[in-house]
Amino acid sequence: MRTIIEPFRIKSVEPLRQTTAEEREQYLGAAGYNLFLIDARHILIDLLTDSGTSAMSTEQWAAVMRGDESYAGSESFFRLKRAVDELTGFRHMVPTHQGRAAERILFTVMCKPGHLVPSNTHFDTTRANIEFTGAQAVDLPIPEAADTQARLDFKGNMDVAALGELIRREGRERIPLIMLTVTNNSGGGQPVSMANIAAVKEVAAFHGVPLYLDACRFAENAWLIRQREAGYAAWTPKKIAQKMFSYADGCTFSAKKDAFANIGGFLCSNDDRIAQQETNLLILTEGFPTYGGLAGRDLDAIAVGLDEVLDPDYLRYRIVSTAYLGRHIADAGVPIVEPPGGHAIYIDAARMLPHIPPQQFPGQALAVELYRHAGIRSVEIGSLMFGDAARHELLRLAIPRRVYTQSHIDYVVEAILEVNQRKNEIRGLEIVEQPPFLRHFSARFRPV
Ligand code: F0G
Repeated sequence: MRTIIEPFRIKSVEPLRQTTAEEREQYLGAAGYNLFLIDARHILIDLLTDSGTSAMSTEQWAAVMRGDESYAGSESFFRLKRAVDELTGFRHMVPTHQGRAAERILFTVMCKPGHLVPSNTHFDTTRANIEFTGAQAVDLPIPEAADTQARLDFKGNMDVAALGELIRREGRERIPLIMLTVTNNSGGGQPVSMANIAAVKEVAAFHGVPLYLDACRFAENAWLIRQREAGYAAWTPKKIAQKMFSYADGCTFSAKKDAFANIGGFLCSNDDRIAQQETNLLILTEGFPTYGGLAGRDLDAIAVGLDEVLDPDYLRYRIVSTAYLGRHIADAGVPIVEPPGGHAIYIDAARMLPHIPPQQFPGQALAVELYRHAGIRSVEIGSLMFGDAARHELLRLAIPRRVYTQSHIDYVVEAILEVNQRKNEIRGLEIVEQPPFLRHFSARFRPV
């Protein structure tokens, strides 16, 4: 059989609510044209994020019931620890309430003003947490990634030559760590090859700088390595993932993505001294080191999720279903970041709406239009999110894991193609008010 199906059936359902065009116009006005400020009950299909929005499995819900809520040394912690140890091999692991809590602890321990932290491309919370310590986040994607239309297998890779050059120019003592984000979310959900991870590790090891993975989509990255990189076709996703982690000295992890959990994360390290400092800091804000800001039941859900996500049937379906959305809109003329990656499709809004300049946020304008037209929520990843550091003006359609069926995605395709038909009428936006950082969450706009 050639048809690839959702490798699950549905046991519990949630109703979706329709809204009228007039209602949506009213909600948009009240929210200042910021889709983060629209109530979820007024959204029909929510592609804002794939984070914390997964459908948990029956095994995960069963694990929730097994959760041990002991304050210290809970069984749930040891189940999670075993799962993380087996997957990553790192010496130390502390749970955190989500990925950015792990980032804040890591960067508070490792970064000082004047430091530089290179990455293939930092995610917004990673960048913000680095810059909050006074250090600077530096993106070093491969130059080919600048062309959204280039169809490269591993467009998420880091520019290894630029990394070596940066370390030599700025001095090793200014670089406390190197990060690799797998998959590269801000760079279009594109995978990083095993060869690139190995090459980055070689440079890192040469200069004695630790390498950390921002690993929240490690399984999708592993599957794309299996499909696209020579030599891995016969490997299990788990073995590929283990090899990816083997090059790193630690990782930050948001369990809200590939671990199918609705909340959670962890921080790993091989360095005993760093791990001790991290644990001290963890206790200040996250809690005792065996629960780290989570309930025991959450730790159990993550432990099961880490195993389930490496199922080849799931990963095959996951990557095919993302490509399904991408191909159906791109082949009908909507410019996307090519090729489709792991968790999301990114429309190149600058290319689709050349009449809207970056200062008027073409990605946000498109997000607003898609909601107005069909009740679909998506997110801008461009000048609004990253300011001057933005490399592209993108609209991200993130696909929650195991949540929507193919007919939901067909609806999204139809809506996007209809909006594309009258794209010349879409107007830009200007900011009316904004906070000092992470402005995309709460800024308010008006149509230009
Ligand atoms: N790193 C990457 C690559 C991410 O995509 C995210 C979150 C984080 C770190 C932070 O994790 O949310 O658990 O604190 N990304 C979500 C998104 C929010 O929509 O892409 P968190």
